Amino acid sequence: MQKEKVLLSGNRVSGNLHIGHYFGVLKNYVELQHKYKSYFFIANWHGLTDRHDTSQMRDFSIEMLRDWFAVGIDPEVATVFIQSYVKEHAELNLLLGMITPVGWLSRCPTYKDKVKDIEGKETINLGLLGYPVLMTSDIIVYRAHHVPVGEDQLAHLEISREIVRRFNSFYGEIFPEPSAVLTKTSKLLGLDNRKMSKSYDNCIYLSDEMDLITKKIMPMVTDPARKRKTDPGNPDICNVYSYHKVFEQSEETLNEIREGCTQAKIGCVDCKKILLKKMSEFFEPIHKKRSELTDDYIIDIVKEGSKKASERAGETMEMVNKAMNLIL
Ligand code: TRP
Ligand code: SF4
Repeated sequence: MQKEKVLLSGNRVSGNLHIGHYFGVLKNYVELQHKYKSYFFIANWHGLTDRHDTSQMRDFSIEMLRDWFAVGIDPEVATVFIQSYVKEHAELNLLLGMITPVGWLSRCPTYKDKVKDIEGKETINLGLLGYPVLMTSDIIVYRAHHVPVGEDQLAHLEISREIVRRFNSFYGEIFPEPSAVLTKTSKLLGLDNRKMSKSYDNCIYLSDEMDLITKKIMPMVTDPARKRKTDPGNPDICNVYSYHKVFEQSEETLNEIREGCTQAKIGCVDCKKILLKKMSEFFEPIHKKRSELTDDYIIDIVKEGSKKASERAGETMEMVNKAMNLIL
């Protein structure tokens, strides 16, 4: 099947990915890669908009890519690359900067929030203000149609669409208006019922071994009304059950667990053991793949991907530079 529409998405560098990332973002990428001509990349430049320390950038980038490949993002199917390898993003960013009104950027809600957070305002830099312009460049340098993102990115994408309309009206219809493909936000909470986040230390990482996962799951809080095994429980307020819902595919088994809980036929320890068994089936192939992927292999793959990405980005820049009479 010839894939006509182009899909692109990027993630900022955050190191090891957790199961919240998997069920919120990665699972979606793995499915979408077969439907569209797909580009997935590590947005390492965007990571510099609010921090200057780059000491972990290299290791974190490699770990993220290892997770991507281990869960099934297939470099034979999708083009996987790193932003800083494809200089065309920067070239287009410069040109789009010439047509983007500063007011659009300073009114962007994510920018305003960031500015509020930054004390003394001494570190509000140009890169942070220009965040949506760089993001637009990332997208349209591939003339992408679809952009899977979380809700937090919708305001940026709206700016992208406005920049595209403005560019096309000045210089000709080069870019399609990119549309957001909303990724279902993962229903998974962290181990402590708060949002799953590295900063809360409540995550299960894709790289965690089963021993560690067991140590994390067993102490999880369940329905507090279930003091004894003979007390009936309510799975709908129990975080362990919400984990069952993502790891257990069979409706029948899920109903059995529900019944076991509400009719006090199984205890929470048993219930967690059933979950752990399912989780170990899920993690087994991921861990196997992770252990096979050496750093050198990952770097090679991503260099290849970046070359492929550059080809399409280069074509776009040729069109743009011609349209703007910058090449003769
Ligand atoms: N801003 C996105 C995020 O924080 C990352 C990103 C950068 C991106 N460039 C992109 C996402 C282009 C989609 C398309 O999640
Ligand atoms: Fe939660 Fe399972 Fe205990 Fe019910 S039996 S409260 S679903 S851990």
